[in-house]
Amino acid sequence: MAREILLLNGPNLNLLGTREPEVYGSDTLDDIVDGLRRLASERGFGVRAVQSNVEGELIDAIHMAAADGLLGAVFNPGAYTHTSIALRDAITGTGLPVVETHLSNVHAREEFRHTSMLSAVCVGVVGGFGPMSYRLALDALMTHLD
Ligand code: DQA
Repeated sequence: MAREILLLNGPNLNLLGTREPEVYGSDTLDDIVDGLRRLASERGFGVRAVQSNVEGELIDAIHMAAADGLLGAVFNPGAYTHTSIALRDAITGTGLPVVETHLSNVHAREEFRHTSMLSAVCVGVVGGFGPMSYRLALDALMTHLD
């Protein structure tokens, strides 16, 4: 069975391509997912891509990934990064290795984005490099898993 990684995207990331392109770039989420599938397959990994605007669905996706034996997750939690104790508990509760990933450098933005509820329970954090953040996060996760 292929080794599989969860690529999880939270609220408003379905709007990539048209959403504040000066902050988030012009790639769509489909563009990003396609590129990551290629990168993963070069190293023998498959990608399960999930996007949801609903906190509970993101929690369910983490639970299901762990239950199905996925090995880890690249996760851009969007604004839930800064608020969601429930997502933090899903990560600790499942033990799934997660790389918190952001397109923008949240520390160079508004103060409310400087706090993450999730970073402390993730294996690492990548941000500030636009779509390349996802590639760096995936690369790091695959190396961490190997
Ligand atoms: C984001 C940063 C968050 O603060 C924001 O709410 C997002 C996107 C990023 O990828 O830079 O939705 O996670």
